[in-house]
Amino acid sequence: MALIGHSVPEAARWLRRGEVVGIPTETVYGLAGNALNTQSVARIFEIKERPSFDPLIVHVPDLSAADNWVTSFSPAAIDLAERFWPGPLTLVLPRKAIIPDLVTAGLDTVAIRCPAHPLTQQLLALLDFPIAAPSANKFGRISPTDAQHVADQLGQEIPYILDGGPCPIGIESTIVGFEDEQPVIYRMGGIPVEDIERVTGPAVLRMYSASNPKAPGQLTRHYAPGKKLIFGKIEELLNHYPAPIAGILSFSTDYHAPYQRILSPSGNLREAAQHLFGYLRELEAMPVEVILAEPVEEKGLGRAINDRLRRAAATLTETTIYE
Ligand code: TXA
Ligand code: MG
Repeated sequence: MALIGHSVPEAARWLRRGEVVGIPTETVYGLAGNALNTQSVARIFEIKERPSFDPLIVHVPDLSAADNWVTSFSPAAIDLAERFWPGPLTLVLPRKAIIPDLVTAGLDTVAIRCPAHPLTQQLLALLDFPIAAPSANKFGRISPTDAQHVADQLGQEIPYILDGGPCPIGIESTIVGFEDEQPVIYRMGGIPVEDIERVTGPAVLRMYSASNPKAPGQLTRHYAPGKKLIFGKIEELLNHYPAPIAGILSFSTDYHAPYQRILSPSGNLREAAQHLFGYLRELEAMPVEVILAEPVEEKGLGRAINDRLRRAAATLTETTIYE
């Protein structure tokens, strides 16, 4: 069973030996390995049960370190990095050949991010290699937002989890790339689309592609809880699924149901994002048959939250055969 601890040097020791460990970031916990060591990267895919066509994010301490792994930064990419790094932004940029093909799934781009969590910043400062880290959950399941979530799903398979407390953002990074110099958002996340567009101008949203996804956050069903989740107006849904068999995930309304979680009683989207994945896990563990979830306000972080809930609710299709 993984040891849960607070020692950055210990996490660094495991990583230098080629092992894979859990690390905190401001978005969600990551399953970390040496991005330049193919065996470590292969182990990440194996533990996560992730299909190898699905590339990983490479984590670096700062913009100048990113330069080692990327052939060119467009002016818009530099503007975004200067504005939002360290923070929940991943940039998809042309890669240098030194990044193993396994990390990028053979693409000619690499996804790169500078995380803001102080412990992971300290960890990156101790290492002379970048960290490849997907979210530390089994493929297609709910991302972990505290160290215990990581232990629950992956504790048997890794030696150490660096505990940095609950993740302050709670949903994954926003992924932005460029196609013919046009900014493209592959995944909505911790930085609202509106904030990205304030820097780059209008961006294309390309998030729902069923075949050969550029980002599997794009697979229709993702972030799925172990129970059926229905996304809609809770008052209407309660006519079909009465409260004792339904768990309720509401934005701010108290439905006075026996099994419910309220994302933010004051209607605050940041607080709602922080609680989203943890509350889905809690509802999943309750004695209910279905989870009813309602949309939050469709603006700012709310768009990323609704995106996660829509995907969690999507019925199984051929795009999910990899789960
Ligand atoms: O907040 C986050 O980004 C977290 C923390 C741990 O940093 N990481 C994370 O990783 O969410 P993961 O593997 O769960 O999601 C990474 C996403 C995937 O959807 C993947 O397809 C996309 O990044 N991705 C990676 N490389 C890419 C590339 N070259 N082009 C487009 N998408 C890419
Ligand atoms: Mg993930």
